[in-house]
Amino acid sequence: MDELLQIKEEALSKIDSCTTLKDLNDLRVFYLGKKGPMQAAMKSMKNMPKDQRATFGQVSNKVKQDITKAIEDKKVQLEEEAIINKIKNETIDIALPSQQLPVGTIHPLTMVKEQLEDLFVGMGYTVAEGPEVETDHFNFELMNIPKDHPARDMQDTFYIDENLLMRTHTSPVQAHVLLAAKGEGPIKVICPGKTYRRDDDDATHSHQFSQCEGLVIGKNITMADLTGTLELFAKKMFGEKREIRLRPSYFPFTEPSVEVDISCFNCDGKGCAMCKGTGWIEVLGAGMVNPRVLEMCGFDSEEYQGFAFGIGLERVAMLKYGIDNIRDFYSDDLRFLNQFARKD
Ligand code: DAH
Repeated sequence: MDELLQIKEEALSKIDSCTTLKDLNDLRVFYLGKKGPMQAAMKSMKNMPKDQRATFGQVSNKVKQDITKAIEDKKVQLEEEAIINKIKNETIDIALPSQQLPVGTIHPLTMVKEQLEDLFVGMGYTVAEGPEVETDHFNFELMNIPKDHPARDMQDTFYIDENLLMRTHTSPVQAHVLLAAKGEGPIKVICPGKTYRRDDDDATHSHQFSQCEGLVIGKNITMADLTGTLELFAKKMFGEKREIRLRPSYFPFTEPSVEVDISCFNCDGKGCAMCKGTGWIEVLGAGMVNPRVLEMCGFDSEEYQGFAFGIGLERVAMLKYGIDNIRDFYSDDLRFLNQFARKD
């Protein structure tokens, strides 16, 4: 009997100080298993006087029950502790500084393109696109540049075959838009996109570059509308103090044609290296759409007239962000690109 109680004391104390589920299981196997001290004690029962056997049996059952209960209680306790520990270890410290994910930057040409789209869409224009591989017909003929016209020399061309070429300007998108309108105005579109010329690449020339064409067709459109539109463009892109100046020029697809200068934003028109001392910087070509272009594209030039303009995106970006080499736009150099990190 004493032995039984001793076993119980020892078992309960071991169970109490047990710290892992594995150790607890070992104790269970030991105390309640076939080779344990309880079993050994039970074996001695057969040598006992009959009257003592019943009490011994009861006590030993009670001891077994107590040990079993202690193990079960301890198991519940250890399992709870394990869960609490797990939760504690898996807690995320939201105050820790996070790892910075690398974020791409917006390309300066995309930036200028989006600024122009915002500006012109705000004035009711839509954005049109045309093919970069163009036919001679659209790139030249419909732009009033027939074969053998000296203006073809101004745009040295990548030909794919006799009739197909890489478009040398975005102006042919004008013809696509006009033809799709089937002689019905009004039209207000801008057409940003890539353009190609067989230029030798240097700091200001690239065989691939980008333009944004503008085309407005209506019934009472005048040169004053063109001037007002370009003035707004100058102020929004280069600052509220900018003024514009129109100089007579020549483009086959416009008549009259103008070259448009913006007052120098670097020196406010006083004269500096950027504007070569003149106070003015040339930024784009424009004019009233040549009636021949309107007629070739299915519009009655007695009824409709309009203006067009062509902006060089690299030129705008170079002026605006002080970029002095056009090749930087196409070099994939992260040191250059990272300067144009998105702020939005
Ligand atoms: N297409 C001309 C070029 O690439 C630019 C241009 C000039 C477009 C005058 C126009 C315009 O629409 O009216 O040189």
